Formats: sequence, C-alpha cells, structure tokens
Amino acid sequence: MAGIRDFRGLTALVTGASSGIGRCLALRLASSGARLALVARRADELERLAGEIRSGGGEAVVLPCDVADRAAAEAACAEASRRLGSVDLLVNNAGFGRHRPFVRHEVDDIERMTRVNYLGTVYFTHALLPGMLERRRGWIVFVSSVAGRIASPDEAAYAATKFAVTGLASALSLEVEDAGIHVLTVFPGVIRTPFFDEEALSRMPPVSLRQMVEPEKLVDEVIRALRRGRRELTYPRFIALAYRVQALFPGFMRRQLRRTTLEALRRREAAESSASST
Ligand SMILES: NC(=O)c1ccc[n+]([C@@H]2O[C@H](COP(=O)([O-])OP(=O)(O)OC[C@H]3O[C@@H](n4cnc5c(N)ncnc54)[C@H](OP(=O)(O)O)[C@@H]3O)[C@@H](O)[C@H]2O)c1
Repeated sequence: MAGIRDFRGLTALVTGASSGIGRCLALRLASSGARLALVARRADELERLAGEIRSGGGEAVVLPCDVADRAAAEAACAEASRRLGSVDLLVNNAGFGRHRPFVRHEVDDIERMTRVNYLGTVYFTHALLPGMLERRRGWIVFVSSVAGRIASPDEAAYAATKFAVTGLASALSLEVEDAGIHVLTVFPGVIRTPFFDEEALSRMPPVSLRQMVEPEKLVDEVIRALRRGRRELTYPRFIALAYRVQALFPGFMRRQLRRTTLEALRRREAAESSASST
C-alpha cells in the first residue's frame, strides 16, 4: 500500500487542527470525503472547524487535548476510534516554534517544545500504530520542517525537535512499509500561519519572509503526495535543492546561513541597542 486512491470513508486524525496548516488540511481531507477527528487544545476553535465541516456535509469529532500529555493523547486516540472507527490516517502536525538564541532560550520552554513537537508525535503514533499494523493499512504524516533538515541559528531548540521528528519518521517508514503502513514526512518552508508571532517575524531574515506561502498551497501538495504515495515533501519545492548544496558543499552552506541569518540578526540587535542607549 502506498498512495491513497480515494479519501472517501477514511478516518483521519489531525493534531493541531485548530489553526494554520492543520486546520487547512483537515478541511481539505473532509471535503475529499474523510471523516475527521480534530485535536488541539482550543476546543472553541475545533468546534468552529467541526461546524464548518458538518455544514459542508462532512463528519467531524472534536477531541480537545494537550498533545504533550501522554494520558490525554492516548485517551484522544481511543475516543477517535470509538466514535469514528479505526483511524486510517494520522497527521502529526501540532507544534510551535521560537526564534531566539539558544543561550537566551529558557530551559522550561525548550522542555515544553520537546514534549509538544516530538513527544506528542510519539504518543499519537505509538497509540495508533498497533491498530494500523493489525489491519495492515494506514498512513502517517509527520509535519517536520525545513528546520528538521537544515539547522539555522536563532532556532536551535526548535530545529532539534524537528530533527527528532525527521529521524523518527525516516526510521519508522522503513520499519512499517512491508506491513502496509505508509509514512509521509512533510518539510514546510515558510507558511503564512499564526505560527509566526510579531517577535518571530521581526527576527526572520528578509529572504525567508519573501518566500512565505499560503497554507492552502502546501495542503494541495500534501494531498497530491498522499495520493501518489510519496515519502517526502518539501514545499516550496526549490528549497529541496538546499539539501543537496548542504551535503555537497557544507562550508558554502554554512557561510550562507551565517550571512542570511546570523549577521543580519547581529546588525539588527546592534542597531536596537544603540537606539535604546541614545
Ligand atoms: N508555518 C510554518 O512556516 C511552518 C514551517 C515549518 C513547519 N511548520 C510546522 O507545522 C506545524 C503546524 O504549524 P502552523 O504553521 O500551522 O502553526 P499554527 O497556526 O500556530 O498551528 C499550530 C497548531 O498546533 C496546535 N498546538 C500547539 N501546541 C499544542 C499542544 N500542546 N497540544 C495540542 N495542540 C497544540 C495549535 O492548537 P492549540 O493552540 O489550539 O492547542 C494549532 O492548532 C507545526 O508542527 C510547525 O512546527 C510550520
């Protein structure tokens, strides 16, 4: 089994469905005929989304949950299966980022990020995989990040969580493919969602801001990748070239990262501190 030929009748559980990429993907899956289990902390946003899905003729259940809470994650998986039947497609998408130098990043926040971005993914995958293996059918999408392939300054802790997700997804993909389970790892570039707060936007290099794309475009590609049984998706696609550059010319890549992110940030911080001292 690789590609999804028909989404109709599939049960899909999407984490981080209350906003951004997850919300957009849940809507697309529902309009393609899948039945949705919606997971995130904000119940009101999930209810709003479920209402939209139902008014379009679809089926959705709302499962408010902090993905970093293992017991709550396991209960959400059990409840999804009880109310909608076996989960065929799991989308591990919930997560958050932080733009700040590692030395100024509070350890509590790094722990929290690791629990949400990485362990949350572990909890949902571990709870739903046995059922998929038993049925010899299932698809698991891991929403990693380009930061899970190329680590940039100012997001060390975030990159580490996404490298962890990438590693988990790559190894799991090999472990389960002969048992009929397909793993798709998604590496979004810069997508216009509430993921970026004012602080993050102000610290991002101009080149990244210029590359920002709408979540609908990414979701179109995710659906296409699922249909085709692809194992990896980087979007926008041209970013995948940077993986080759990094592998072949690591010194050049390092100089580029320094120039586009680190040096720009240092100039900005120097300007801010001289403005505040005058
Ligand atoms: N936007 C980008 O450019 C970009 C690039 C690369 C990768 N990504 C990845 O894409 C994924 C989705 O991000 P997005 O851009 O769509 O951001 P977003 O709009 O901020 O959405 C994040 C989602 O994650 C949920 N979430 C966060 N913490 C949670 C928790 N503890 N428990 C349950 N749900 C939680 C949020 O819901 P609640 O607040 O309601 O809990 C929300 O639904 C993330 O994993 C992110 O790392 C995004």
